[in-house]
Amino acid sequence: MEGNKWFIPLIFALLISSFFIICILSTGNPFHQASVKAKDPLIFVESRLHIAPTRPITTIPRLAYLISGSSGDGESLKRTLKALYHPLNQYVVHLDLETSDEERLELLKFVKREPLFMKVGNVRVIMKSNLVTYRGPTMVTNTLHAAAILLKEGGEWDWFINLSASDYPLVTQDDLLHTLWTIPRDVNFIEHTSDLDWKEEYRGKPIIIDPGFYSLHKSDVFWVKQQRSVPTAFKLFTGSAWMMLSRPFVDYLLSGWDSLPRTLLMYYANFLSSPEGYFHTVICNVDAFRNTTVNHDLHFIAWDNPPKQHPHYLTVDDYKEMLESNAPFARKFGRNESVLDKIDSELLGRKADGFVPGSWFKGGDANETISHYILTNITSLQPGPGTQRLTSLVSGFLNDKDFHKKHCL
Ligand SMILES: *[C@@H]1O[C@H](CO)[C@@H](O)[C@H](O)[C@H]1NC(C)=O
Ligand SMILES: *[C@@H]1O[C@H](CO)[C@@H](O)[C@H](O)[C@H]1NC(C)=O
Ligand SMILES: *[C@@H]1O[C@H](CO)[C@@H](O)[C@H](O)[C@H]1NC(C)=O
Ligand SMILES: *[C@@H]1O[C@H](CO)[C@@H](O)[C@H](O)[C@H]1NC(C)=O
Ligand SMILES: *[C@@H]1O[C@H](CO)[C@@H](O)[C@H](O)[C@H]1NC(C)=O
Repeated sequence: MEGNKWFIPLIFALLISSFFIICILSTGNPFHQASVKAKDPLIFVESRLHIAPTRPITTIPRLAYLISGSSGDGESLKRTLKALYHPLNQYVVHLDLETSDEERLELLKFVKREPLFMKVGNVRVIMKSNLVTYRGPTMVTNTLHAAAILLKEGGEWDWFINLSASDYPLVTQDDLLHTLWTIPRDVNFIEHTSDLDWKEEYRGKPIIIDPGFYSLHKSDVFWVKQQRSVPTAFKLFTGSAWMMLSRPFVDYLLSGWDSLPRTLLMYYANFLSSPEGYFHTVICNVDAFRNTTVNHDLHFIAWDNPPKQHPHYLTVDDYKEMLESNAPFARKFGRNESVLDKIDSELLGRKADGFVPGSWFKGGDANETISHYILTNITSLQPGPGTQRLTSLVSGFLNDKDFHKKHCL
């Protein structure tokens, strides 16, 4: 009898306290909650690393472009932007810190004066410019800066393409989007190799400092006396600085919780010509992305023989070869180079200062464009002759029976 008096309150107290303990355990500790919910026996965060999904293949693909330039590039940048413009795409334009305020403002005014850009709202100007050093890691940070803006603010898109004001398209955006519609959205066009050759000695070992990280004034990278050994924690890759990256890969670089993109970014901070290595080394060291690589940079670039430091400026003499390359982009072009007019009239059907005709625009002046755009709901594309060239380039890679044996070699 004495025992019973104790028994009921004791059970009651036990029940209440275990209820609270369960509550605390399941709400106070997010890992516990997540693992209970996911019914995942593994408690390692790595096991829950997931790749961002691609957009449905029924939707028309969309591209996100960064076009950057430096002092004096303002006019060419405008021209490249107009030649690349399509209302379905997203654009970020950047003139680096070496550019005068007048030139930067002029670019801003140009974008604001264009009613179409204002109406569609898909062209953004970076006003807080970055100091970008040639061959320096500040080129990579600048590219990531724009990619982050596009990822956060650019709505839906499938691929990110980094261009400069001296690049120019050889196909219309309708051609490009139409061709990309036929391929998986997770592939990455990135020219790469692990055969570093002379670069192992001259890129892999020297240590450089980019003053662009801390100085207000542009100056060249400089070398530190000490050298480092070739990495053993990951495998180095190198390749072209021009690429087309899938949205899942860009998302992984910027907001993935794997540590690799960040540690490699720091490693490449002291690497000469890091744009020719950072993205390649990341993508080839991650199992989930290796198999998405296509070994091509989508550019026609002409080197002298023997190659000099820079590719040569393209002229009418290169036109035939440019066309036969089937590439969607070429570089590099001098300002107001006459071959650009030839490309405009023969390949893009673009009138001086106008947009490239396509499903959304029949040609004519800029005012007509807007009314057309308002009237036309873009649910289809109008592929032209460029589609054939581009399809033969792209399917040549993707339909190769050894395609899956050629990643990251
Ligand atoms: C991006 O574009 C710039 C041109 O402004 C170029 O120099 C750079 O190497 C490109 N590539 C990458 C991966 O940043
Ligand atoms: C990548 O491809 C190789 C060769 O076909 C295959 O063995 C491997 O499992 C693939 N990796 C992934 C993550 O799909
Ligand atoms: C290119 O030519 C046009 C017209 O001929 C001119 O207005 C413009 O300033 C030139 N641009 C450059 C960068 O020389
Ligand atoms: C376009 O329309 C605006 C305002 O209606 C006008 O000021 C401008 O002259 C027009 N431009 C052309 C090229 O017709
Ligand atoms: C465009 O057309 C498609 C299909 O006809 C329709 O589903 C969509 O709502 C239209 N969009 C606009 C903005 O009118």
